[in-house]
Amino acid sequence: MRNPYYESTIHRQIREKRENRKDRIKEDLMFYGNDVLKSDEMKQAFEQTHHQWSTVGEHTFRVAFSSVMICYALRKLGVKVSVPAVVIGSLCHDLGILGRSEKYSSKKECYTEHPKDSVTVARELVDELPDKTEDIIERHMWPAGDSQAPNSIEGLVVSVADKYSAVKDLVKGSEVNNTGVKNYLQNEREKIRKTIKNHKRQ
Ligand SMILES: [Fe+2]
Ligand SMILES: [Fe+2]
Repeated sequence: MRNPYYESTIHRQIREKRENRKDRIKEDLMFYGNDVLKSDEMKQAFEQTHHQWSTVGEHTFRVAFSSVMICYALRKLGVKVSVPAVVIGSLCHDLGILGRSEKYSSKKECYTEHPKDSVTVARELVDELPDKTEDIIERHMWPAGDSQAPNSIEGLVVSVADKYSAVKDLVKGSEVNNTGVKNYLQNEREKIRKTIKNHKRQ
């Protein structure tokens, strides 16, 4: 994160707290989701476009980060949540969508079938995948389409984070280089910067 030249004590404390939380999330993802993170599927995920401006990989990471962050907030409120189930569920929730154009004949089929295919991928990547995690993945599309509602607090967390991250994908676009995905906002920002520079010169 950028280190401003001057910042007040309260701003420094907030920044440090955020950075610590980010590190904790990263540690949890690596600890519980190591098998998924090192898989070939995860590598492929960064090459497939998702939500118009992003990739499956980036969307996955956005969902995982937001899900774990919600878990920390819930724990502070005294709500018991399983971080391992949320980590595996969020990291695997869309891996079944890889190879979408060859696998599905229509958008609708992709919409309804990819959660089940993601469960299949998760079973291959994780030994003894718990039923709870399977349900998180299978029901993650809720409340969209005909998906069944989540049957656990962890499932609800991932479903909400998925919708929030889908909006983020559309607004923020891709931050990964060389994926062939157009970074809409970055291009727009560059254009605006150039226009301002040219305007100042005149
Ligand atoms: Fe999905
Ligand atoms: Fe998703």
